[in-house]
Amino acid sequence: MTQEKTGSKIAIYPGSFDPITNGHVDIIKRGSRIFDKIIVLVAYNPRKSFLFSVEERCQLIREIFKDCGCIQVDSHDGLLIDYLQKSGASTILRGMRALSDFEYEFQMALMNRRQTKNIETVFLMSGFRWFFTSSNIIKEVASLGGTVRGLVPDNVYQRLLEKYPNKNNRR
Ligand code: PNS
Repeated sequence: MTQEKTGSKIAIYPGSFDPITNGHVDIIKRGSRIFDKIIVLVAYNPRKSFLFSVEERCQLIREIFKDCGCIQVDSHDGLLIDYLQKSGASTILRGMRALSDFEYEFQMALMNRRQTKNIETVFLMSGFRWFFTSSNIIKEVASLGGTVRGLVPDNVYQRLLEKYPNKNNRR
């Protein structure tokens, strides 16, 4: 079967990114070897409360990828599939860590495809080093004075120190 080529391959990488971690950065870098362009989308997750504002999260991600022309950053506060339709993309990129991610990711991928048939979600396995890294556990440890150096990009690390200025015992 031949498949018509419809132009450049764009993937939307949505997430809360509160804040972006080295695990996310790894997925974006590996994804950029597969896709021509990746839009990192700071999206709204009604199940979460946030430490960083949408603007702060976008700014941190832009700083990290300022030299990567194929990585764009955007935000969206509605349904993910509405953003995909607006941008003309049909691929969602997500990272998968431990088995515990599977049910949540499967549910979202099927629900998104139920809304719009031509949407596909592509998963990349988390890098081994980042298997147990999550934004939530990073925030928890940072808020209690533990060290998260090496788990997040340097700019994020600095911002976490600013968010929790008095928690400097193990840094
Ligand atoms: O990093 P997260 O919090 O696991 O990412 C979840 C996110 C933001 C991708 C998901 O909550 C989402 O798609 N939000 C946009 C609203 C939406 O479309 N919800 C229905 C998902 S099936």
